[in-house]
Amino acid sequence: MKAQGLPRHVAIVMDGNGRWATRRFLPRVAGHRQGVESLRRCVRACAERGIEALTVFAFSSENWNRPKDEVSGLMDLLLLVLQREVPRLAADGVQLHFVGDRTGLSARLVSGLAKAESDTASNTRLVLNICFNYGGRWDIAQAAERLVREGLPITEVNLNRAMALAHCPDPDLVIRTGGEQRLSNFLLWQSAYSELYFTDCLWPEFDEAALDHAIEAFRSRERRFGKTSEQVGGAQPLPLQSQVA
Ligand code: IPE
Ligand code: IPE
Ligand code: MG
Repeated sequence: MKAQGLPRHVAIVMDGNGRWATRRFLPRVAGHRQGVESLRRCVRACAERGIEALTVFAFSSENWNRPKDEVSGLMDLLLLVLQREVPRLAADGVQLHFVGDRTGLSARLVSGLAKAESDTASNTRLVLNICFNYGGRWDIAQAAERLVREGLPITEVNLNRAMALAHCPDPDLVIRTGGEQRLSNFLLWQSAYSELYFTDCLWPEFDEAALDHAIEAFRSRERRFGKTSEQVGGAQPLPLQSQVA
């Protein structure tokens, strides 16, 4: 089997912050704060490894259903990230994109997101997409709506162009921390042929070694995109008799 190279685009469902905190008798929002530390480490590690794009799931369309204080804690944390982390990311050559529905976010947040994007637009070291108030179904629906508005036919190519992540190739590798094996409405369209990797590691504990494990697992997979193993350069299966001999 041909070994894969490095994934160009890695996407992560950063799950397990709440459990990380609860196990330490801390409030859940302390887990989210620790999650920001983990994200900072992961961004650096991805850039060092030559990954071109990193997309992370920070707040889902469904996370509004959490207790009010946790939701407002997460909004406050995003503001803090904009104030404290963005200048650092900008200096490190990271191009930031916030992906998701901005209606329903405060005016202060919306202008902060736009400023962070314009301040980092010319950076080229790593594209970082932060999915906030994002859902895969929202993305497909907003893309379809846009095509209708522009009077374009709903084709795969047009939908692809109208999707919120049109500036990136599809993710090669989708990682989910925290032990659950589901997508929870993340990148439904774009992950059609992504390699999925699930780990029990909680997001605040996901470090460079854990990232390298995920990349190694990816590199050992055979991506066939519907073809046969032989077509994509995999090992020819031995005839049954010579296997027995
Ligand atoms: C993921 O961690 C972050 C968000 C959903 C905002 P969780 O908060 O879901 O952590 P667990 O799954 O409860 O441990
Ligand atoms: C997915 O995690 C969303 C984010 C990581 C932002 P959840 O914790 O919300 O997912 P479910 O509810 O367990 O499916
Ligand atoms: Mg969770």
